[in-house]
Parts: sequence; structure tokens; C-alpha cells
Amino acid sequence: MDKAFEPGIQQAGDVEIKEIYFIDTKSNKKINLLEFPYPINEKLDLIFCRNVVIYFDKPTQKFIFNNFEEILKSQGFLIIGHSETMFGISDKFKFLGHTVYQKKI
Ligand SMILES: C[S@@+](CC[C@H](N)C(=O)[O-])C[C@H]1O[C@@H](n2cnc3c(N)ncnc32)[C@H](O)[C@@H]1O
Repeated sequence: MDKAFEPGIQQAGDVEIKEIYFIDTKSNKKINLLEFPYPINEKLDLIFCRNVVIYFDKPTQKFIFNNFEEILKSQGFLIIGHSETMFGISDKFKFLGHTVYQKKI
């Protein structure tokens, strides 16, 4: 695994990464996206969730995006996969371009 994605305190430029949660059923610290609330104790700045929601139907995608909106800080970022979209599914995020969305205020 890439060192930058190991959990714990990391430095990435001038940004300190305090904690990383893996939203992946193969990880030890796994989070099942279908079971809300997720075991996360703080609001997150950023969620990478690439090539995951595409396997779920639209109502389930809406459920997951709503959950992401819930656990992100105000104006937090969500990055999804190139084949995925929030168009017609959730209006809780602003589309910034490509795969990048930002939680609306
Ligand atoms: C195609 S892989 C994408 C992996 C990685 N995000 C990437 O872009 O390479 C789909 C991933 O969705 C995860 N997944 C499937 N159902 C899930 C669920 N209910 N909760 C969390 N992760 C799930 C699987 O563990 C798998 O790693």
C-alpha cells in the first residue's frame, strides 16, 4: 500500500492528515457503506470513494451520498470515480469539475 495512505499522522505538504478511514470491505478498518451511521467520530474534510457507488442502484447511491454529506464538514470535498456521477441523484453537493464535488453550505 502507498505510504501516503497508511493510517496515522502524516504530513502532505502543509496539510496534516490526522486520520484516514478506509471505506472498503477489504480493509481491516472497514466501513460498510450500507450500514449507517458509519463508525467515524469526527466530521471529515475529504472523502475519496472511487468506483464503488457505481455498483449500487440509484436509491442506494442516493442513500450513500446523503450519508457522505452527513459526515463531511461544511464545504468538505467528495471525489468519486470517472464513471460515476451525482447528476440526478443528489443535489447536496456542488460539482467542481471532473470527479470533484463539494458539500454545499
Ligand atoms: C471496483 S472496486 C474499487 C476499489 C478502489 N476504490 C479503486 O478505485 O480502485 C469496488 C470496491 O467497493 C467495495 N465495496 C463494495 N461494497 C461495499 C460496501 N457495502 N461498503 C464499502 N465498500 C464496498 C469493495 O470492497 C471494492 O473494494
